[in-house]
Amino acid sequence: MSARTITTASLLAFKQRTEPIACLTCYDAAFAQVLERAGVEVLLVGDSLGMVVQGQPTTLSVTLEQMVYHSRCVTRTAERSLVIADMPFMSYATPERAVEAAARLMGEGGAAMVKLEGGAPLVDTVARLTAFGAPVCAHLGLLPQSVHQLGGYRVQGREAADAERIEADALRLQDAGASLLVLECVPRALAEALSKRLRIPVIGIGSGNACDGQVLVLHDVLGLTPGKAPRFSKNFLAAESAPATGETVSACCIEAAIKGYVAAVKSGAFPAPEHSLA
Ligand code: KIV
Repeated sequence: MSARTITTASLLAFKQRTEPIACLTCYDAAFAQVLERAGVEVLLVGDSLGMVVQGQPTTLSVTLEQMVYHSRCVTRTAERSLVIADMPFMSYATPERAVEAAARLMGEGGAAMVKLEGGAPLVDTVARLTAFGAPVCAHLGLLPQSVHQLGGYRVQGREAADAERIEADALRLQDAGASLLVLECVPRALAEALSKRLRIPVIGIGSGNACDGQVLVLHDVLGLTPGKAPRFSKNFLAAESAPATGETVSACCIEAAIKGYVAAVKSGAFPAPEHSLA
């Protein structure tokens, strides 16, 4: 590990000094280099690859084998960022299966942390993984792997009872040993309250700009998403108005677009109110 390597401890330090953490999904070796050069601190090998790389309608068909393969591709060139690998649908249905899946994602895939979607039912699994030395990123709010149960990709936590459940789940997952929390598509006020209440960093997606960091799907940031990109995302490669002149400019290359994303996360300019869902 080089002195500049991002670790779970460095993420905590970002939170303590209130520097927003810039995170993007990444699925291969070429983009891992570009994203690192542009200053992205956390690369998430998301199972969103099922939708944006494979063209599937949901993330449910992504296999552990595929996640190990893409994690390995990313970690082959990523030198300093923290690489998180998503645990695919049902690969953590029991604590035993979760330990086996994490062993492959970290051992063969080279990931430094694994991410799983869900609340209270995963408390024992998170405790088991962390007891064996696998850092865990929890994921609450909109859970894409539960899309059929949720009835669609909808904002979560609008009702008081839902918000309370999400908050209680977050505290339990933190107490069980989670190092990071991804909060997807919840109202800004709930994301802000949780970011203040939790010791661990909260990375938002579609949850407003009051979190400790932001994550987006790489293909949304580059305007490459098959079909429609989510309303909360932003194409940083597309032409924009330069604030001073009103002149239309565009990022000249992918790396510049990613740098634009990192700068907007760091300054709090992204997400803007129009990227908020609630
Ligand atoms: O799979 C993924 O890309 C994710 C992000 C949407 C947070 O889980």
